[in-house]
Formats: sequence, structure tokens, C-alpha cells
Amino acid sequence: SVPLPVAPIKQPKKTFTNPNTGGIINYYEIEIKPVEIQIYPPPMKKARFVGYDGMIPGPTFMQNQYEEAIVRFINHGDRSSSIHLHGSYSRAPFDGYADDITPIDGYKDYYYPNAQNGRMLWYHDHAVDHTAENAYYGQAGVYILRDSYERGLGLPNGKYDVPLALSGKYYNPDGTLWDPEANGETTSVYGDVIHVNGAPWPYFDVEPRKYRFRLLNSGISRTYRLYMEDDTKPGTRLTFTVIGADTGLLEKSVPTQDLYMSVAERWEIIMDFTNYANKKITLKNEKGVGADSDFDGTDRVMQFRVGNKVTDTSGNGAIPTNLRTVPYPPNKAGIDNSMVFQHDGGMWNINGHVWSDGIDARVLAKPKRGSIEVWELINKSGGWTHPIHIHLIDFQVISRTGGSRGVQPYEAVALKDVVWVGPNERVLVIARYSPWDGIYMFHCHNLIHEDHEMLAMFNVTFLAD
Ligand code: C2O
Ligand code: CU
Repeated sequence: SVPLPVAPIKQPKKTFTNPNTGGIINYYEIEIKPVEIQIYPPPMKKARFVGYDGMIPGPTFMQNQYEEAIVRFINHGDRSSSIHLHGSYSRAPFDGYADDITPIDGYKDYYYPNAQNGRMLWYHDHAVDHTAENAYYGQAGVYILRDSYERGLGLPNGKYDVPLALSGKYYNPDGTLWDPEANGETTSVYGDVIHVNGAPWPYFDVEPRKYRFRLLNSGISRTYRLYMEDDTKPGTRLTFTVIGADTGLLEKSVPTQDLYMSVAERWEIIMDFTNYANKKITLKNEKGVGADSDFDGTDRVMQFRVGNKVTDTSGNGAIPTNLRTVPYPPNKAGIDNSMVFQHDGGMWNINGHVWSDGIDARVLAKPKRGSIEVWELINKSGGWTHPIHIHLIDFQVISRTGGSRGVQPYEAVALKDVVWVGPNERVLVIARYSPWDGIYMFHCHNLIHEDHEMLAMFNVTFLAD
């Protein structure tokens, strides 16, 4: 077993003052490039990945609210790239539009306002037809936005605030990475090896105190039902506390013993190891969840090895019950747009449309800028799960019907940007379509479905239709 890697914090190459606002603009450069990693021990071969700055996952951005960022992504990878900062209300030209591709050896500068509340975002590839491949080979990284309100809550910080990015991969018998594209995969890549921060089933040495873990499902298709188990007491699930979702803190903290996480979701939890000194706690995954294919090792994710000494007691206080005032959109009756997710003829479509139908056919909604809309997301594709992501906005999950699961307690007190829509489920989400005009994407975040064209657009416009 290998120790948990924690990606380094990306440092700006230069810092400027915005002449209009007097505020800070951080300028970064990231190079997309190949890297070889020995996943299986020799004589097995190294596996070749392509990552941001040659790291899997990429370096972590740590940005303060109201400090703008410009990031130059230089493409020295194998394929075209387009970069999406998932969770940011970026202006459309900087949102990673699938057809806005940067060729090999090209670069593009992306501008991020960072004016939203504190949250865990992530940056990943979004190039048309190749998102799954690019992300699977490693083009994904964490981007943390911090605000002063959240700093004042005294949550675990610094080395006690750790991103955990989960992804599943397959390897060939010689140790090289199995290639979904070369193998013509058109449905899903679950992976039989679970990685956290790029390492298979790692362990992490922790102190007997509270930790904040920022969970991200950065995989291609696998969904999880996560729980914590004390290795000396198999079968008993420990309680941990959910404090944050895709778009930052929940309204209230929610103690739970398990957590559903579909692709691209972020869930922030506090795990308190205080009573587990000298023990081993395993983060496990329930098999048979969603539509996933399971394997021998897909029931476990990583291990925490608890020491017996606390070196720093800051941020180790009680977890506040009320975390923040969440700006839920006002209630509204009726359904403004209905989106049906289907599988037909080897292609995944939304309301019968696929990306390659062209720009007129694939704009499926036209919300007036600033309007509140309720969208109905319906899964009519048999046994498949679709994690549905809507760019630009933060939405509230109003209901989930048609399957065995309703809205989970931690989903009910959150704003999200991805929602799990399971087989036969109908999920209602409500949001204000703002702040910008522009054409944005929404899609299934099972990236194989996305590349096989379950990807469409909506046009936020000042003009009523
Ligand atoms: Cu995380 Cu459209 O993507
Ligand atoms: Cu899907």
C-alpha cells in the first residue's frame, strides 16, 4: 500500500493589481504534459498518464474570494484540450466550451472571477469527443476558493483540510493503463482499481482529532456509497458529518453513516478520529450501487492510520450546527424545461438530440437572464445512472422520485451543480439563471456518455424568447 499523495498548491507566476478595482489578479501557467508512473511494481511496466503540470491529479489552486485569476493552459498533451473550471460561473468564452479546443502545442488564457462564495471547484478537460479520455489519463485537478466568512467558522484547516479525489481505472496485465478509446468503450468506465489523489487504495497517517476531507468524484463513470469502518469492528459504520457540497457549505451540518457520490459531485465531510487512536479506519464503498460494475477491490477506497498524538488543536472544536445562510432560489410552481436522458442506437441523447446535431438543434432551453426556472431531469435509459451537471448556475434539488431513493438529507440543505439521476428517476432542480448572458453546456457527467453525445446547451439571454 502507498501513502496518500497530496497535490502541491499551485503558485502564481505573477501577481498584478487590477487597475479598475485595485484588487489582486493572480496569473498562473499550467502545462499539460505526459508523465510515467510505476503503479504496479517492476517488472511490470510504468503507466503513462497526461496531467496538468505532469501530475495526477493536477496541482491544487488555493484562491481567495475576490482575487481574480488568469490561468494559461499550455497543451503539450496527446490530444486537443478545453478546460472547464467546474463550479465557477465563468464567462462563456472561458467556460471550457467543448468545441473551443486548444490544439497540441497551443495555449489559451482562461479568466476566472472567483467572486462566488467559498467552495471546492475542480478543473478538468472538456474537449469535444475526448473529455473521457483526457480526464481518465489525468487531466483533472482541485481548485479551492476560500472566503472570509468560512474562515471565521474555525473548521479544520491547513494540513487538517485535505482534498480526496476519487477515480477508478483499469490496467493491462503488463501494468500499463487500459485505454477506453482504443477499446471502443461507449457505455462506461468504472475501473477495478480505486485511486485517491492518483494512488491506488492509499493510506493516510492522521492524528486523533478532526479532519476536513473535501471529497471529489473525479472519475469517469463510477458512483459511490461511501462509509467509514473501524477495521477491528467490521460491519459497523462510523458517523461522520457532512458540511459542504458542490457549491460550498451546507445550511446545516448533517451527521451520517453513508454518503452517495456520483461523478463530479463534491461532498465535504468532517471525520473525527479522536476516539480511534492507534486504530485503522477504512473508507469503504458499498458494492452494487447505481449501475456500476463491481470487482474484488471496489468495496474499499483508502485507509486512515490513526496515530496517538495531536500536534495542533486549532480547528478541532465543535462542528457548528448552522453553517451558513444558503441563497436558495425562491419557490416556484410548474416546470419550465423538461430534459429526458435516453440511450438510442449506441448514442446517448437528451430529448432526442445529440451534440453533433449542430448548434441550432442542441440549444434545448432559453432562460431569460435572472429568471428562476424549474428543470425536470428524467432518466429513461433503462438501468443507467446519469450524473447531470448544469454549467453556470447553483441549483437546489427539489425532489427525486421514480426510484428507491429520495433527496438525501445532505442534498436537501445544499446548493449543487451536479445531481445523481438514477434509473427511472425524475429529479426536479430549481435555479436562478444568472449572472451572465451566454450559451452554456449541460450534460451527463459520466464522461463516456458525454463524449457519446449526451451534451447539450442552454442560452441565457436578456431578450425574452
Ligand atoms: Cu465537470 Cu461540463 O463539466
Ligand atoms: Cu449518463
